[in-house]
Amino acid sequence: MLFILCIVSLLLSPAFLSPVQNDPLFKHIDDHSHEYIQRLKEWVAIESDSSDPSKRDQVEHMMQVTKDYILKIGGKVEMVELGDQEYSPGVKIPLPSVILAEFGNDKTKPTVCFYGHMDVQPAKKDDGWETDPYVLTEKDSKLFGRGTSDDKGQVLALLHAVESVMKFDLPVNVKLFIEGMEEVGSNGLEKIVEEKKDTFFSNVDYIVVTDTPWLSTKPGITYGARGNCYFFIEVEGARRDLHSGGFGGTVYEAMSDLVYLLGVLADVNGKILIPGIYDDVLPVTEQEKELYKDLIFDLKDMQRDSGVSKFLHSTKGDLLMHRWRFPSVSIHGIEGAFSGSGTKTVIPAKVIGKFSIRQVPKMKPSVVEKQVSNYLESKFAERKSPNKMKVTMVIGAQPWLANMSDPQYLAARNAVRRVFNVEADMIRAGGTIPIAKNFEDVLGKSVMLLGIGGPDDAPHGQNEKISMYNYIEGTKLYASFLQELASI
Ligand SMILES: *[C@@H]1O[C@H](CO)[C@@H](O)[C@H](O)[C@H]1NC(C)=O
Ligand SMILES: [Zn+2]
Repeated sequence: MLFILCIVSLLLSPAFLSPVQNDPLFKHIDDHSHEYIQRLKEWVAIESDSSDPSKRDQVEHMMQVTKDYILKIGGKVEMVELGDQEYSPGVKIPLPSVILAEFGNDKTKPTVCFYGHMDVQPAKKDDGWETDPYVLTEKDSKLFGRGTSDDKGQVLALLHAVESVMKFDLPVNVKLFIEGMEEVGSNGLEKIVEEKKDTFFSNVDYIVVTDTPWLSTKPGITYGARGNCYFFIEVEGARRDLHSGGFGGTVYEAMSDLVYLLGVLADVNGKILIPGIYDDVLPVTEQEKELYKDLIFDLKDMQRDSGVSKFLHSTKGDLLMHRWRFPSVSIHGIEGAFSGSGTKTVIPAKVIGKFSIRQVPKMKPSVVEKQVSNYLESKFAERKSPNKMKVTMVIGAQPWLANMSDPQYLAARNAVRRVFNVEADMIRAGGTIPIAKNFEDVLGKSVMLLGIGGPDDAPHGQNEKISMYNYIEGTKLYASFLQELASI
């Protein structure tokens, strides 16, 4: 699952969202729901864990099964080989093939390309699962199993949607870009996007990622994500670790410098103290504020889930804005510091502080890097410590923000109205979604994240599930989206 903080929100029973059921397309989907669940069961049974080299054949098998199904429902498929992965020095294992598929090739129709993945996170019954993770188990109208939500269930819902719409008339060209290494960092994917830019992707108008959860029981469309600028501050004070009995009171300690520097990054209320850091943050518009009003989001749920006694913000809108559209700084760790239990009177010779800034549009990583370095260097200079200090930015991942007026967003919102009779939640991810930014940068196409996962599906955890409601109504959502896209 593209990482989005999931919060349990069970206030609303899905039953109130009366879907329109007299539509022949929807009736077709309902009539086939048992078959859809059966297929999910077969796909969940394939242990396509991309992190485990001993299961790499299972990932490839999963790609082949997916290919066969796409062929069966009338698609054309090209399997792209990625070669080997150097798993550890000297140990090579094959990377799973990537699926490039298409349904229809009519130049008068718009073309939408969907991205999804067939690999899963590791799962063992011993990890604390109540059921066998690779045996789809139905309980309380929920389907439990690894990959049900992330991402086999979402990809299958899409395939069933394409198949259903084709029973009537497919009004758009559909392409599929499906990989098997998402959970371990999408090895080789950027290269394929580059290589296929002028061929497979050349006629693509829209890109839709089907690998995200909703914020609540209401369907959510994700239109933005924060970036991540990750920093190391290295402070070196001695050639070797010293002992406080012998050196305490005689040396400028590296750790004291580092703790000071980490301490001046933000104030107690989370406000970042680095000069200029907020300069490029887009102002909040009235229109944007409106989007937050109808979001179903309960701070109490988030509090229960996290065990946090008080958040920095007290309203839903404030809190979500600070999670999604304002920058934040977080301190992650100190390498080289004593962190074991018990007592140790060491004075570490060299320590590396690690923190990151989740930056937002229009903040540029290169500018953030300068602002952070200048600030920390001036703060360090003020201390007049003789130690060596060095700041480096080790990750500079860009934020992503789509234009919500793009036709595919309008089509998705229409589709949500049609299936669920509600307005879609327009949401963002507080984390980073490199693939969205990558598609946008390399292909210059509009990207949208239209997933069907629930907020409490536990995509990377124990007892992953998708509700039957999300799975089947989500199939209708994708089917409606294909039809709506043609009429925008
Ligand atoms: C967003 O898209 C709309 C419609 O295509 C266009 O009119 C508008 O200028 C775009 N906004 C930005 C900021 O690009
Ligand atoms: Zn995923």
